[in-house]
Amino acid sequence: MRSDADTAGPMTDPVPGPRTESMGDGVSRETPPPMDDTPIGRAAQLAVEAIGRAGEGLPRPDRTRIMVVANQKGGVGKTTSTVNLAASLALHGARVLVVDLDPQGNASTALGIDHHAEVPSIYDVLVESMPLSDVVQPVPDVEGLFCAPATIDLAGAEIELVSLVARESRLQRAIQAYEQPLDYILIDCPPSLGLLTVNALVAGAEVLIPIQCEYYALEGLGQLLRNVDLVRGHLNPDLHVSTILLTMYDGRTRLASQVAEEVRSHFGKEVLRTSIPRSVRISEAPSYGQTVLTYDPGSSGSLSYLEAAREIALRGVGIHYEAQQHAQPGVQNYQQSNSEGMQ
Ligand SMILES: Nc1ncnc2c1ncn2[C@@H]1O[C@H](COP(=O)(O)OP(=O)(O)OP(=O)(O)O)[C@@H](O)[C@H]1O
Ligand SMILES: [Mg+2]
Repeated sequence: MRSDADTAGPMTDPVPGPRTESMGDGVSRETPPPMDDTPIGRAAQLAVEAIGRAGEGLPRPDRTRIMVVANQKGGVGKTTSTVNLAASLALHGARVLVVDLDPQGNASTALGIDHHAEVPSIYDVLVESMPLSDVVQPVPDVEGLFCAPATIDLAGAEIELVSLVARESRLQRAIQAYEQPLDYILIDCPPSLGLLTVNALVAGAEVLIPIQCEYYALEGLGQLLRNVDLVRGHLNPDLHVSTILLTMYDGRTRLASQVAEEVRSHFGKEVLRTSIPRSVRISEAPSYGQTVLTYDPGSSGSLSYLEAAREIALRGVGIHYEAQQHAQPGVQNYQQSNSEGMQ
C-alpha cells in the first residue's frame, strides 16, 4: 500500500507505470495501456473520453483511499457499484483494488476473476494470514484494476474469525502490509453487519453506502450508522460515511425522486449528485464476467458510473464538482430527473 511519503498531490504521478494524467479529449498517457489492445478495452476508453472534458484531468488521491461499500440490506447495488466504480476509476487512470468480502463472490464474478474453491482468496488472507499479494489477481481487459477474490470458504469465516487474535483487524493488517501502489481500495461487503463487515470498517477510512431508490430505502440504515460510530469509537478513529450513492434510480417514477429527496435531506452533502439509473445493461454485464464499462461503454449505466467516479475523485481532493451535460439522451434524462430530487 502506498504510504504518504511516496505520494504527491493531485495531477502529479510519482508512481511509475501507465497512468492517465489528463482525461477527455486531451487524454495523455506515458505508455499506452494494454487495455487499448482489446476491443472492449478500446470501447471503454472511448466512453471515458466521451465523458471527459477536453484538457480536464482527474486528480489522484494523495494517499490510498480505502472505501468500504456497505449496507446490510440485500440487493441495493453494493456489488454493482463496487465493481463499476472501481472499473471507472481505473479507466480514469487510477490503480484500484477490489476486495471481495462477500462469500457469494459476486464482485469476483462480475470482474471475470476465477474464484472456485481452490483459488487463493480473501478467506486465506483473513483466516490463514496469507499475504494479500498472494491472492490479488489482475482484472482482464481493464488496466490498473485488481481483485482479491472471495470463494465459498468465506462463508465459514464469520465463525472461524471469532476465535482468532485481532479478529476485527485482520483485513486492516493485510492491507497495511500490501506494498503495491494503489489509489483506491474498494471493499464489497456482504449484506450483514458481522465480523466480515467489521473487518472492512476497521480497514477503511471511508464508508460508501449505496441506497436503492425504492420504498424503505432508509430502513435499517440507523443500525449501520451505529456500527460505524462504534467502530470509530473503539477501533478506527478515521472512519466516516463519506459517500452516499443513489442506485437503480428510475426517473419515470415519482417514488424515485421522493426517495432521492428524502435521502438528500437526511444526509446532505455526502450524497453524490450523480445517481445511477435503473438499467438493463448494468444488470446484464455480470453474466458476461464484465463491468458495464466494458460490456456497453456508451450506455447510460456506464456513463453514470464514470461520472460518479469522477465526482468521488474530485471530492477526495476538495475540488467542487459540476455535473456535465451529456450528448446521450439516457444520461441527460436521468440527470434532469435527479435535479428534481435535489435539495
Ligand atoms: N442500476 C441498476 N439497474 C438495474 N439493475 C441493477 C442496477 N444495480 C444493480 N442491479 C441489479 O440488482 C441486483 C442487486 O444488485 P447487487 O448485487 O449489486 O446488490 P448487492 O447490494 O451487492 O446485493 P447483496 O446484498 O446480495 O450483496 C443484481 O441483480 C444487479 O444486477
Ligand atoms: Mg453484493
